Amino acid sequence: MQQNNRKMINGKSIILGTCYYPEQWDKKLWAEDIDRMLAAGIQVVRVAEFAWNKFEPREGEYDFTFFDEFLKLAEEKGMKVIFCTPTATPPAWLSTKYPEILNADQDGNLFRHGNRRHYNYNSPIYREFVAKLTEQMGTHYGAHPAIIGWQLDNELNCETNEFYSESDTKAFRKFLQDKYENLDALNAAWGTDFWNQTYTDWEEVDVPRRTNNNTTNPHRVLDYIRFISDSTCSFAKLQADILKKYIKPDDFITTNGIFDRIDYQRMQRESLDFITFDSYPDFAYGLDDYDEKDPFKDRWWSMKLTEVRSTSPVFGIMEQQSGADGWTNRLEAPTPKPGQLTLWTMQSIAHGSDYIGYFRWRTSIMGTEIYWHGILDYSGRDNRRLREVKAVSEKIKKLQPVAGAEYAAKIGILKDYDNNWDTNYDNWHRRVERQSQDSLFLALQQLHAPYNYVYLTEETKPEDLKKYEVLFYPHATILTKEKMALLETYVADGGKLVMGCRTGYKDRTGKCVMDYLPGLASKVTGTDIPEYSFVSPEDKHVYVDWDGEKVEAAIFNDILAPVCESAEVLGTYTNSYYAGEPALIRNSFGKGEAYYFGGAFAVDTAKLFARKLKVAEPFKDVIELPECCELAVREKDGRQFLFVLNYQPREEQIVLKKQAFDMLAEESREGNVTLAPYETKVYEL
Ligand code: GAL
Repeated sequence: MQQNNRKMINGKSIILGTCYYPEQWDKKLWAEDIDRMLAAGIQVVRVAEFAWNKFEPREGEYDFTFFDEFLKLAEEKGMKVIFCTPTATPPAWLSTKYPEILNADQDGNLFRHGNRRHYNYNSPIYREFVAKLTEQMGTHYGAHPAIIGWQLDNELNCETNEFYSESDTKAFRKFLQDKYENLDALNAAWGTDFWNQTYTDWEEVDVPRRTNNNTTNPHRVLDYIRFISDSTCSFAKLQADILKKYIKPDDFITTNGIFDRIDYQRMQRESLDFITFDSYPDFAYGLDDYDEKDPFKDRWWSMKLTEVRSTSPVFGIMEQQSGADGWTNRLEAPTPKPGQLTLWTMQSIAHGSDYIGYFRWRTSIMGTEIYWHGILDYSGRDNRRLREVKAVSEKIKKLQPVAGAEYAAKIGILKDYDNNWDTNYDNWHRRVERQSQDSLFLALQQLHAPYNYVYLTEETKPEDLKKYEVLFYPHATILTKEKMALLETYVADGGKLVMGCRTGYKDRTGKCVMDYLPGLASKVTGTDIPEYSFVSPEDKHVYVDWDGEKVEAAIFNDILAPVCESAEVLGTYTNSYYAGEPALIRNSFGKGEAYYFGGAFAVDTAKLFARKLKVAEPFKDVIELPECCELAVREKDGRQFLFVLNYQPREEQIVLKKQAFDMLAEESREGNVTLAPYETKVYEL
């Protein structure tokens, strides 16, 4: 993971910003808007991500007067600017004259002008237009004093993450030629002897088109998803490499994520100083899919923030929700209640964000997003949400020591892109993975046991893993020798590794291994899997007895056998035809231990693991808090900052067992404390 050392997120300050669209408003509003933002404590605006026509109104005619004027004003008023490449919305003149820049549906029908992100990453013509415009923008604006950083495009892979244009077909072939060199190797990797799918000429190789039942070769799909990630990363790099030639040394390059089918570890390495995220916790209150029984609702967003942190430990929020969600034709959610805007801001900061940019200053009066509200409503009058932003800015002044601090976690949940992407198409894999990811999140949140996601990549070193006492790798379906070597080192050095069912049965092509399972993980786990089955619908739930405690082995069951003396059976199945058979094995390996659990994790199961492995409630000597409140801790230079977030519309009680400094109230506290509805407390220990 890369550390951040650039200007905005440099460990020195936490700041507020907002998204502004100078092109959507009368210029007469600009000065007043900037003054009002500054008065509310907003120091940064992000601009231009959809404004291509303002820079190049006609092919090859560049014109910078519009944004020159805006930036001059920003500079005069002391407003800092995040400037964007406007490549998410290519102009009508471009898509009309060069339709090959457009993306297409699976049948190859081109998407037409009228929405956004209608382009494809691989069109040589589009890349040429993008490169020329970025070059122009870099040359013209690179040294501008108002600019502090750059955003590439907008939400790469949002809304569309499938590409079927002619350029994509050609690029996919090239990607495969580079990877496999010849068709024999490709046919072998994709197992094309199955159902006579053998390719005899590269011209026959295409992106996955529509088939009957829309079923196709899964190994091909896996490579196609890798190809999409590769295309997205190279599109970002094309822009970043150009900008790097012109921007000021302290200015940063970022993009706003996180979306599927992108290797963000690679993108950050190649193109970004840090990642930023668009945080809309109100999706949990969407009118279509509101779930009254969901205990977490907006708190689920903490899972996404954890994912963001896996790319950049300290990051930014480029778009923080500040009003109701809604497009004219989809997505409907209510206005954040009084206190929720503050709560969601604090949620972002608690998880590692040092920049919060509210989406958006004024609510659009036109277009698809007239219901996607910003801070101000259509009239622009002062309102409750603006007052709340102002109050947040006062709070943030008191939280400055937190800047640059990293989220503290003893638990890591391992991930890797091959396995993430395998779940895109493989239902069996997806079912266990979703179950376990959701359960681990719920369980560890309720136990107030903070965790990180840790991506295993070619760059991962043993030191990256060593800082975690426990690593869960729930369903490492695809395993490689390199990953296993890393994990064996981790365990041998004293780590505790927990693996769940369906581990190790695929190789990198996604084909199954002709081996005793869990394949490459057999050695470290000391486990063999003589038999396995989906949990039968007749059994509904299968349980495991672990030292007298009964926990669920959800969805799928591997029936286990220990294979060496160091392997010990800790739990057995209690029901189904395999009742009494081993369900949980612990293997002592070097100084550490590896656990193999035969099922997917249920919430109770994940909680029991955390307790038995002694990583539950790491702050219980300091604070007692109810399950419905979140605890997040950031630490820096030996200082610890505890965030306690109340997501409830009612008061909640906590107990400080030791004296702690309430950073917002600016006083020391101990004993019983009441949190107001949606309140966040921040304590320094
Ligand atoms: C984000 C996007 C913004 C805006 C917002 C509300 O995904 O980056 O441009 O569309 O959602 O829909």
